Amino acid sequence: MSLYQIMYISTVTGTVTPDDCATIAREAAVRNRRDDVTGLLLFNSRRFLQVLEGPKDAVERIFARIYDDSRHRGVVKLREGAIVAREFGQWAMAYDDPCRPSDSLKDVVAALLTSAGPSTSAHFLGSAELHRPAA
Ligand SMILES: Cc1cc2nc3c(=O)[nH]c(=O)nc-3n(C[C@H](O)[C@H](O)[C@H](O)COP(=O)(O)O)c2cc1C
Repeated sequence: MSLYQIMYISTVTGTVTPDDCATIAREAAVRNRRDDVTGLLLFNSRRFLQVLEGPKDAVERIFARIYDDSRHRGVVKLREGAIVAREFGQWAMAYDDPCRPSDSLKDVVAALLTSAGPSTSAHFLGSAELHRPAA
């Protein structure tokens, strides 16, 4: 079966709380599993960065729904195309929780990236790093 991957960034509209993130992630997990789509969604209090991978039809259909979601804007694809293997075999989500130090986001993301390629890792680690408060 041929696999397809889309990676995009976007900016949150209004305020999205950790609770909202949990809701988005929970709903996405159920729907994506049904379509055999895996990936990673990262939220760092202002921006989303997501990878979707799986059958081309399903990835494109899910992305079209996400694109129209009013909870974010400025959706920009960073990468799109066929892949030989999944970089994220399971669905995963990481977000900045105000109750936890930001360093932990980077640690969580690093752990999730163990099977990802160098270019994907660079995007996600850069994004997790971006919003660390000054020491
Ligand atoms: C940043 C972000 C990421 C999302 N990721 C997914 C996803 O991976 N899979 C999914 O089915 N829905 C995802 N959603 C939710 C979809 O945009 C949409 O609300 C959901 O698929 C329900 O669509 P429907 O109301 O047209 O059925 C995401 C939403 C946002 C804001």
